[in-house]
Amino acid sequence: MPGTVIVGAQWGDEGKGKIVDLLAERFDVVARYQGGNNAGHTVVHGDQQFVFHLLPSGILEPGKICVLGNGVVIDPQVLCGELDALEGRGRSVDGLRISGNAHLVMPWHRLLDAQSELRLGPLQIGTTKRGIGPAYQDKAARLGIRVQDVLDPGILREKIEAALAIKNEQLERIYGLEPLDGEAIFADLVRFAERMKPFIADTSLLVEDALREGRSVLFEGAQGTLLDLDNGTYPFVTSSNPTAGGACTGTGIGPTRISSVVGVAKAYLTRVGAGPFPSEADPERAARIREVGAEFGATTGRERRCGWLDLVGLRFAARLNGLTELVLTKLDVLSIFDTVPVCVAYRLRDGSVVQDFPAHQSDFHHAEPVFEELPGWGADLSGVTEWQNLPAAAREYVRWVEERLDLPVSMVGVGQRRDQILEPR
Ligand code: IMP
Repeated sequence: MPGTVIVGAQWGDEGKGKIVDLLAERFDVVARYQGGNNAGHTVVHGDQQFVFHLLPSGILEPGKICVLGNGVVIDPQVLCGELDALEGRGRSVDGLRISGNAHLVMPWHRLLDAQSELRLGPLQIGTTKRGIGPAYQDKAARLGIRVQDVLDPGILREKIEAALAIKNEQLERIYGLEPLDGEAIFADLVRFAERMKPFIADTSLLVEDALREGRSVLFEGAQGTLLDLDNGTYPFVTSSNPTAGGACTGTGIGPTRISSVVGVAKAYLTRVGAGPFPSEADPERAARIREVGAEFGATTGRERRCGWLDLVGLRFAARLNGLTELVLTKLDVLSIFDTVPVCVAYRLRDGSVVQDFPAHQSDFHHAEPVFEELPGWGADLSGVTEWQNLPAAAREYVRWVEERLDLPVSMVGVGQRRDQILEPR
């Protein structure tokens, strides 16, 4: 409990925001550790709906310390917009702490993200075009601008000039675009800096102190396991590490500080952007899932591709993250089907049937799903607020997943409201 990571066990959009929002009450600190405003969390609090792209979902809990860790990439304009919007709705943002080591998403990152996708044509990744990949590229290239740079206008100006000397050449020569005006970017950033300054802190020390003093920290991952840069379905991945190990590097704490890892998965599966998806449903049933599950991106509004729960992928997620428990969300969406297919294995090109995620991309690209059909429950679950009141077939679906994965399911979501999360007993 003291150091708990919450991680997406699929391709993102598992409903982590809602679970973090719910769990946040029980934790003293919520710390986001990677990604940027490519993420989108929709949270319903009371009768109000909030969509966050950058702020940790815990920000809605009064008095909570909410950290944007060093592993997050921050678009200052988006951050300031979210702060203003929250305050405009009468919510306090006093609990926010931003790592000085986090990198900034700059205007050239957004441009280069869009241009590079255009250039890739049919090979494009389907990024969110928020500049996330180019920002992480510059971090690795040691060309990045960090949050702490905004504290010193002299350093900030120098860094913008150094970066633009290269970026403008790329924009002009490779993409035929107009160069960016460094002075205008500097002036904007100085404005955003004023808004960000009060929140900048040594968040690594803050998190470590909290844990040492016996307070609890919830580490919030964005995206999901299969989008992990190192272990996901490369190249159709994001450019950071959503997997649980990323919580250490992305907040500046050691692995021994993590005591449990909660995976969040939908009771079915969705994917945004390009890339293989073995358990993708046929177009007719995919469209029904999309409609009932409202499967449209919170960030880009794009239609999500829809399919069936994939135990091969979940087994992989359990391994990569060292999951100690699983949360299944949106079980109610499956109520529309008479039977529910679940992918239990992949058949590979050589005819072998495997339960472990293929190590080689070509095997995965050509993997055919092996399905088992489970009985549906044919009942609306939206009014169910106790585990015991779920139809037997719905409970059996959850128990069956637990058994197959050898992993306890600690919560099951049957709707958007907070009381629509059930605890199996
Ligand atoms: P990027 O993170 O914008 O560079 O996009 C890389 C890949 O990650 C694309 O396939 C995106 O659709 C996917 N992606 C990024 N963020 C999310 C998310 O929050 N949910 C689902 N997919 C995401």
